[in-house]
Amino acid sequence: MKTTEILKMNKEGWENSAERFYGRSALPEYGPFSLSEDQLNLFGPITGKKVLDIGCGSGHSLQYMGNEGAQELWGLDLSTKQIEAAEEVLRSQKSKVTLFESPMEENPGLPLEYFDVVYSIYALG
Ligand SMILES: C[S@@+](CC[C@H](N)C(=O)[O-])C[C@H]1O[C@@H](n2cnc3c(N)ncnc32)[C@H](O)[C@@H]1O
Repeated sequence: MKTTEILKMNKEGWENSAERFYGRSALPEYGPFSLSEDQLNLFGPITGKKVLDIGCGSGHSLQYMGNEGAQELWGLDLSTKQIEAAEEVLRSQKSKVTLFESPMEENPGLPLEYFDVVYSIYALG
C-alpha cells in the first residue's frame, strides 16, 4: 500500500473517533499506578518556552502549557476535527498559537531548531 493511501486511511479513522478523544489526556500518564506529571514535573519549568505538540488532538495539553506560561504554542494534527477543536480550546490563550492540520510524516512549515520543548502524547505510536 502506498504512503498516501495509508495516510488517507489513518485520517479517516481519526476523523471518525476524534470526539472520543476530546480532552482525554491533557497530561502524559506514565503507566498504571505511576505518579502523574503534576507530581513528577518531568517537563520542568514551561514559562517563556516555545512548545510543539505532535498529534495535539483537541489542544488540551497545549492549553495546559499555555496556563503554565509557555510563550508560543504550536500544534500539529492529522485530523480536521481535532484541529477545529484545538482552535476553539486555545482561543482565549494569551500565548501565540500556531496550529497545522497535517500528518506528522510531512513538515507543513514548522521551523527547525526553534522549539524548547517538543512532545507527543499517545500520537507517535
Ligand atoms: C490518542 S489521540 C491523542 C491526542 C492528544 N495528544 C491527547 O493526548 O489527548 C492521537 C492523535 O494523533 C493524531 N494523529 C494520528 N496519526 C497522526 C499522524 N500521522 N500525523 C499527525 N497526527 C496524527 C490523531 O488525529 C489524534 O488527534
